Amino acid sequence: MPLRKRDRDNAAGLTRRDALAAAAGLASAAALGPALAAPAPIPFGSAAQIETFRADPRYRQALLTYCDVIVPMNDLKWEAIRHDRSRFDFSGADELVGFAERNGKALRGHALLWGEALPPWAREMSTRAEAERELVEHIETVVDRYKGRIATWDVVNEVIKFDPLEGGPMRDTIWQRLLGPEHVEIAFRTAARVDPKARLVLNDFNFEEGWPGTAERRRVALDICRRLKDKGIPVHGIGMQAHLYAENSLDIDGLQAFMVEIGKLGLDVEITELDVIDWKLPADAGTRDRAAASLVGSFLNAIVSVRRPKAIVTWGLSDRYSWIHDTFPRKDKAKARPLPLDADFKPKPMMAVLDRYRRGRA
Ligand code: XIL
Repeated sequence: MPLRKRDRDNAAGLTRRDALAAAAGLASAAALGPALAAPAPIPFGSAAQIETFRADPRYRQALLTYCDVIVPMNDLKWEAIRHDRSRFDFSGADELVGFAERNGKALRGHALLWGEALPPWAREMSTRAEAERELVEHIETVVDRYKGRIATWDVVNEVIKFDPLEGGPMRDTIWQRLLGPEHVEIAFRTAARVDPKARLVLNDFNFEEGWPGTAERRRVALDICRRLKDKGIPVHGIGMQAHLYAENSLDIDGLQAFMVEIGKLGLDVEITELDVIDWKLPADAGTRDRAAASLVGSFLNAIVSVRRPKAIVTWGLSDRYSWIHDTFPRKDKAKARPLPLDADFKPKPMMAVLDRYRRGRA
């Protein structure tokens, strides 16, 4: 469905150029020709994996060179912090948070509630009271430790069912089983109580493809946020993971309509885990890199032309290190090329696309 002009005008995040373009009856701001003043840069960042961070100085340097924002990739997950039930282990998170603070980088916290990356004891919780007690204590302790330092939290991660049209809308996790859909409220309410200044985000994947289930995922995300707001529980943004499958096409109209709806709710959008899953692309590296850059460009352009994200964060920086290698291996055994720097930390075409937003040229 093409975006209606009225909807665009209503979107709180509409840029001045878009409003001008709309007033002139043009399809997009691009039709106005080159902008006179460059738009403000969008903070750019990456997730950082602790083992690699410790082992590879080039990785640390890349974080310093390219990032405004750093996200501990795994060290704020329950699996890392709550390995032992009796004590909180912040060693990895503290190291990355300290590095970010010393170098003037902002931080995103990932994630206070997730159905995965749980230690065995948490998977074995069996009563509602136990789950609520543990969840509240966890969020109180973690958010309090980084109060005023971690500005933004992924409060809940992946709580929406993969295809909510198949008996959803919530994903089947230990939290959903023991607490029902209320687990989302408990998490947001607790985080807001402990750090009232923190920006609180609902983070999830696949909001960008053309399947009916994807449209439903967008609807469910908006619905969850609307309900929180109606109850007076703070929620500030929707995080789009954006692990983009190179073989699938983007639903540009659906994405833009999503941005309009996010704007109507007064929420921010953030791109939180951007990378390209290239397992089905041809082996040639140049072909893959061009396809990945073009996909990222179309995705970001669709979003930014309606609502500027608060941040654009990739899930790693260099192809040398990525979860895609293990999770989406290629049949031909060629190494995946999901990220903006190649395995030798040289910028790829994807970085040129990101630079436009990072430096405020788009
Ligand atoms: C991944 C990490 O990148 C891996 O290092 C880890 O082994 C598993 O988790 N969605 C998320 C992230 O929200 O937390 C996941 O990160 C990738 C998918």
